[in-house]
Amino acid sequence: MRHFVGLRHIQKERLQHLIDVACEYRRQVAEGQDLTHVLSGRAVALMFVEASTRTRFSFEMACNRLGAHPLAFNAASSSTTKGETLLDTARVLRQVGADVIVVRHKCVGAPQQLAQTLGLPIVSAGDGTNEHPTQALLDLVTLHDHFSTFKGLRVGVVGDVRHSRVARSLCFGLKKLGADVVVAGPGPLCTPDLTALGATHQHKLDDVIGQVDALMMLRIQRERLGGSMLASEAEYRTFWGLTEARSAQMQDHAIVLHPAPMNRGVEIDDVVADGPRSVIFDQMKNGVFARMAVLNDVMGQS
Ligand code: CP
Repeated sequence: MRHFVGLRHIQKERLQHLIDVACEYRRQVAEGQDLTHVLSGRAVALMFVEASTRTRFSFEMACNRLGAHPLAFNAASSSTTKGETLLDTARVLRQVGADVIVVRHKCVGAPQQLAQTLGLPIVSAGDGTNEHPTQALLDLVTLHDHFSTFKGLRVGVVGDVRHSRVARSLCFGLKKLGADVVVAGPGPLCTPDLTALGATHQHKLDDVIGQVDALMMLRIQRERLGGSMLASEAEYRTFWGLTEARSAQMQDHAIVLHPAPMNRGVEIDDVVADGPRSVIFDQMKNGVFARMAVLNDVMGQS
């Protein structure tokens, strides 16, 4: 049984294959090809127990493009509000006919737990502060579009690294594919655990900005921050925000990514988010193709 619950242990060949499949699906969709035969008759439960816009809708669109039925799940009106466990809810989805469960949950390890116990392919749509592997896949597709190779690529990951499942999965993926990763963020938000994975740690954004081919600006996760971790958003912007002036210090060819949703005027200014270096809205578009590749992969069709 194939799962897709993280990039920590994924084989490089599988990751590279998923990038290739996502790019191929994008080409086929652009040509107007009908791909609804690929997962025709399959049912995909979208079990989002934490808020989402991009991930949820792109999985739904990925299902539609491949001919699978997305089974919507509304946590607020589900029996989880009556105390049903995650595992029992997942068992319900299996019993009513889901072929795969896509799960987003605030608890670290929730997708891994389901993968070990449920007997159904599990795809992580993000678990707490741990991993967000399909986000990393779409980030890798976007980087591949611009640089063709990961060997020697230098990517900065800046901001709230500590709480970022995006940073963790991207770091795993980039290191596997041969890229260099530099992480930076305010002391309490930039724990050095990613350096154990081979990332370099810098203490100032200004020491990163001119050195990288791509800069991933992370979202300040207000929902996961305790009151003492951030003095003020204005101060954060002063030291860690990607302003127009800082963007001008980047190498000419360098690009800017952000997983979104963005805190405009905090970690990134409007003029940069909407400017010529930004590939943020390309990332969102690539999310559909990345998720098509993953659904196809776990359902054994690749
Ligand atoms: N980047 C991301 O995961 O966005 P959503 O929370 O909207 O899914």
